[in-house]
Amino acid sequence: MPKESTGLSLDGQGKPLWLSLELTYRCPLKCSWCNNPLDFDKYTEHELSTEEWKRVLAEARELGALQLGFTGGEPLQRPDLEELVAYADELGFYTNLITSGVGLNEARMAALKQAGLKQVQLSLQATRAALTDQLVGTRAHARKLEAARLIKAHGFPMVLNMPVFRHNIDLIDEMVAWAAELGVEYIEFANIQYYNWALLNRDELMPTREQIRRAEAVIQRWRERLDGAMTIYFVIPDYFEDRPKACMNGWGAIHLTIAPDGVAMPCQEARVIPGLEFHSVRERPLAWIWHDSPLFRKYRGLDWLPEPCRSCAEKEKDFGGCRCQAFLLTGDAGNTDPACSRSPQHVLVQAAVTQAVSPQRFRKPLIKRSASGVCTTFMEE
Ligand code: FES
Repeated sequence: MPKESTGLSLDGQGKPLWLSLELTYRCPLKCSWCNNPLDFDKYTEHELSTEEWKRVLAEARELGALQLGFTGGEPLQRPDLEELVAYADELGFYTNLITSGVGLNEARMAALKQAGLKQVQLSLQATRAALTDQLVGTRAHARKLEAARLIKAHGFPMVLNMPVFRHNIDLIDEMVAWAAELGVEYIEFANIQYYNWALLNRDELMPTREQIRRAEAVIQRWRERLDGAMTIYFVIPDYFEDRPKACMNGWGAIHLTIAPDGVAMPCQEARVIPGLEFHSVRERPLAWIWHDSPLFRKYRGLDWLPEPCRSCAEKEKDFGGCRCQAFLLTGDAGNTDPACSRSPQHVLVQAAVTQAVSPQRFRKPLIKRSASGVCTTFMEE
């Protein structure tokens, strides 16, 4: 292990265990919490070809990557998805498809099964059609339900992912009931993270503390009732916690994202940080990017940590939090994540929470993800 890797999270022992392939930023949905870049359409014509993705897969496997998520955008927009899944399976990856379900039909599901796909993560925003369609900006609810049925009919383990925010957090109870009925194995209530489109809409999307408290109580009741029949994940947004999340389990520790244009990053959001030097798998071997590139070494391990993280007893738990969030909120990615109550800039997070939930505040329309500038749609209270 190179000297600069001192302090690297032990989980991966220096290997990028989790590989996230953003096959495309194209997507039929217009979610206001999308974590793709605001200028996502800029990358569309530079997407890696099938052969280039295969080379990435082979190089990543050689580096020790095991878990693989095909994501996007919507990965089903790529007609070569099945071919890539088959190749990844041949290489020995445990393959996951992370999808909105839009574009999934019987033929593609059967082909993906045949290709060796192991698990599907389906996103669903509500059990109510009108609300789902309004939130994602298109008629998608019925197609999502059909996708859920297909996933189960083909015998895949299914992770149902409900991105949670102010508009739908009170519907967790009916979502669990629906998932239990369908026989879902895992359900994840993912309180959205405020980057890119979600950050633009932060004031509108952020739930209140009371909503979070109620959601926790509902989940606790369901956990007791289901007694392990379904695993329920619920992570409180770090804006409401005293400590930051251990983002990516540490920068450059176990997580490797490849963007549609081949740029390799320690997380999906890293391009928001200016001044970093990004490399594409088109120009450099993945092994060099992972082990030696200035980007991956910049915040790897613990040696770079600022105070108060450097002298904090919890630094090996959270690695100073999220670099992208530190940049977006403080203007410097090298600062302690202000989600931490020990950060000198924690007041920024406290102020954001106060402002977002203020009952006096005028509610604005949600800004929908859009390729050509921004469009808006009004969400009823
Ligand atoms: Fe980039 Fe957390 S999202 S480090």
